[in-house]
This record gives sequence, C-alpha cells and structure tokens, in this order.
Amino acid sequence: MNFTASIALFLSLVSVAWATTNRFPESNWGTSRYGTFTSVSGFFLQSDSSTNATSFDFNDNLGLKPNYTWNSFKNAIEELNANSNETTSYKVIFFGRHGEGYHNVAESYYGTPAWNCYWSLLTGNGTSTWGPDAGLTPKGVFQAQNNSDLIKSLLPYGFPLPQNFYSSPMTRAADTLTYTWNDIALKTGFVSPIFKESLRETIGLHRCDERRSKTYLKERYPDFQFENGFVEDDLLWTKDTQEPDGAKVLRLTSFLNDLWASDPSTYVSVTAHSGVGSALLSAVGHRSFSLSTGAIIPIVVRRDSILGFVPPSNATTVSVGTSATAPSCTVSIGSLASSKTASLYSQFSKDYYQTESYSVLTVTSISTTTATVTAAISTN
Ligand SMILES: *[C@@H]1O[C@H](CO)[C@@H](O)[C@H](O)[C@H]1NC(C)=O
Ligand SMILES: *[C@@H]1O[C@H](CO)[C@@H](O)[C@H](O)[C@H]1NC(C)=O
Ligand SMILES: *[C@@H]1O[C@H](CO)[C@@H](O)[C@H](O)[C@H]1NC(C)=O
Ligand SMILES: *[C@@H]1O[C@H](CO)[C@@H](O)[C@H](O)[C@H]1NC(C)=O
Ligand SMILES: *[C@@H]1O[C@H](CO)[C@@H](O)[C@H](O)[C@H]1NC(C)=O
Ligand SMILES: *[C@@H]1O[C@H](CO)[C@@H](O)[C@H](O)[C@H]1NC(C)=O
Repeated sequence: MNFTASIALFLSLVSVAWATTNRFPESNWGTSRYGTFTSVSGFFLQSDSSTNATSFDFNDNLGLKPNYTWNSFKNAIEELNANSNETTSYKVIFFGRHGEGYHNVAESYYGTPAWNCYWSLLTGNGTSTWGPDAGLTPKGVFQAQNNSDLIKSLLPYGFPLPQNFYSSPMTRAADTLTYTWNDIALKTGFVSPIFKESLRETIGLHRCDERRSKTYLKERYPDFQFENGFVEDDLLWTKDTQEPDGAKVLRLTSFLNDLWASDPSTYVSVTAHSGVGSALLSAVGHRSFSLSTGAIIPIVVRRDSILGFVPPSNATTVSVGTSATAPSCTVSIGSLASSKTASLYSQFSKDYYQTESYSVLTVTSISTTTATVTAAISTN
C-alpha cells in the first residue's frame, strides 16, 4: 500500500478575551489553582542533561544518585517542604509508562510513519487488535509484575511508598498500575487509585487511544475511584484531529494544579503513557527523557502559587502548536478543526488560567487553522 496525499496538520490558536480584572480570592493563594512548576534536579540521574536516556536503566534504583539513600532522599524532601513558605511546596511523582501494548507491537511491526498515517486509524489488522483501548501484551504484564518486584526490593531501604495513585483511563495503564502496586499498596485497602481523564494518551486519530465507558471501567476496576466529572462515554476522542503537543502540556499543567489543590500527599504515583510523560516533563521544565514501555521514573516537582495572579491582557493568544503526531506520510484525515476539539482546548486553557474567574467559554469562530474562544466572566 502506498500512502500519499496531503499532510494534515492543524494549528489551534485559542484566544481568550478577558473582560474584567481578576478577582481571585487572596485568602486562597496557598492553594491557588494556578501555579508554576519546576523540576528539581540533584536527586535523580534522569534530571541531568549529561545522562544518556537510551542507556539509562530505571531498574538501577530508579535513577537515585549514588550519594543518596532512599532514607536520606526522604529526609531531604521533608526538609525542603519544612523550610518553604506557604506558597511553595514539593512533591515527588513516580511516573510510570504502561507496559507493552498491542499498539506498541504494531507500531514497531509497521514502522512509525505507516503506523501514524494508516494503521493507527484502524482497530486492528485481522490478526491483532489494538483499538479501541489497546490492551497489554503478555510482555507488558510481565514488565509490570517485574516492576512490582523491583519496588519490593527497595522497601527495606526506606523507599517512600506513594500515598496516592493516579491512572489514565486506558486499561493498559490501569492494568499496569494494578500489576505493579497491588500487593504492595492496593490490596491493603488503604488507597484506591483515581482515574483522571487528563492522564489519557494524546487525544484523537489513533484508535488505541479511544477509551472505554465509565460503566465498563467500574466493573473491571471495582477498587478504583473516578475523579469528579468523569463522564460515561469518551466525548473527547475524535477521528478527525489530534491534540497538539502544546495543548497536552496545558492539560498536564492543569493535572498538576488539580493535584496540588486536592491532594496533600508528598509522594504520588502516576501511571499513563509516553505522550503524557513527555508533556508532564515539559510542564515542569524537566529535560526531555523518553521512557521505554513499563519504565518508571521519579520526578521531584516544586510548585509556586502565583500571588495576586495578573490575568493576561485582553485577547491573549495561547498557541497550542501543531498536531502532536501528524502523519508524515499521506493520509486523508480531514483538515477542519472540529468544534469538539476546539472546545476541548478551550476547556484545558480555562483550567490552566483560572476556573473561578469566569464560567463559560464559547467558541466564536473556527477556521481550518484557528479557533477563537471568548471568555464570559461571571458576575458574582
Ligand atoms: C479589554 O476589555 C475591556 C472589556 O471588554 C475593554 O473595556 C478594554 O478597553 C479592553 N482593553 C484593551 C487594552 O483592549
Ligand atoms: C548529591 O550530588 C548532587 C550532584 O550530582 C548534588 O546536587 C547533591 O547536593 C548531592 N547531595 C548530597 C546529599 O550530597
Ligand atoms: C547513549 O546510549 C546508546 C545505547 O547504549 C548509545 O548507542 C549512544 O551512543 C549513547 N549516546 C551517547 C551520546 O553517548
Ligand atoms: C526485571 O527486573 C530486573 C531487576 O529489577 C531487571 O534487571 C530486568 O531487566 C527486568 N526485566 C525486564 C524484562 O524488564
Ligand atoms: C516563598 O519562597 C520562595 C522560595 O524560597 C521564594 O521565591 C518566594 O518569594 C517566597 N514567597 C513569599 C511570599 O515569601
Ligand atoms: C498484524 O500485526 C501484527 C503485529 O502487530 C503482526 O504480527 C501480524 O503478522 C499482522 N497480521 C497480518 C495479517 O498482517
């Protein structure tokens, strides 16, 4: 098969018009929904630019530098939090990419260009199925079980167990989370992982990234919780367009703001996808660090609340960039940014700035390259 046609890229510019000055309550500064995030280096090899990501092996103590033990690391994090003022705080995120899925196998089999422009748009090839919601291969299951052994081997050295677990709503992530953490932290019944829509893989085009219904997930994962507002059906995925990288970074920034606002834990686990990992690293200014399937890396993140948040001037343009994995070979996927996609980006931009200061976002115009969104400021 020969894949020739036009490359469908789209650029979505979201313009937010601010009609009044910010009225964010100053008493809430400490838990502001808006903060800046910074990766803190010095603890893990993976945050150093000199570390070779290809030869890096997370099995080697998750990259903890040799001048730390898990106990002295914990003390150092405790000290950072103890010595910081009310606008600054630190968390450690154990970020895990799901184990190998059927879509990963297919992408290697066909090669990335043919995968992106053709095979990813299908649910399978007759002998292998990867969509919707690609599942783990036996190797993927093994990787997750092997990680469970790895974590168990670190426990005698004071490894800080995550106090809460967050999962992408894709079953390959929830299964990975379960195989890795079940008999370490979940079986005890003290923690119940939380499904977050903001942790799903890059939205759109790829059938492997279309999620199952809430009812299905509830039945398959009775011990998991759903974040507030988690809807029954996948309303975000669309076959026509794909979320750009910039939008994904806004989405992960909004995840981080949620995390700080809703969870006092210092140590949390996040199980998701490669695209989520790169957006998360980007949201905190960590160097790029690509993870193989099943890999886990800790990231130390500092958050500073924005004091007296100053809204951008009227009609500030937030560029969310071009489609993240636009086909580099040819395939017709349609070039119109759908209104659904545009309102998705506006939703994430809304979270990124401030939810409290306005209530409704309306898409006012959409062209093939631009979406304009108007913020209606609530008056009370
Ligand atoms: C910003 O928007 C307000 C309300 O629409 C308007 O009165 C004001 O003139 C605008 N300011 C600028 C600099 O465009
Ligand atoms: C460990 O080494 C790193 C540099 O690689 C340094 O930033 C950090 O302060 C050192 N920590 C201790 C406790 O020695
Ligand atoms: C990084 O590691 C890979 C795999 O071991 C190796 O092929 C590559 O040359 C290394 N890169 C550098 C810059 O050392
Ligand atoms: C399994 O875990 C061991 C020890 O942590 C590691 O050395 C090995 O590479 C892992 N194997 C796979 C296939 O992930
Ligand atoms: C809080 O501490 C941080 C880090 O030391 C500092 O940059 C910031 O200005 C402090 N904020 C206040 C309100 O003191
Ligand atoms: C379908 O894809 C898998 C890899 O994902 C491959 O092993 C298999 O041979 C393919 N089937 C056909 C009929 O091409």
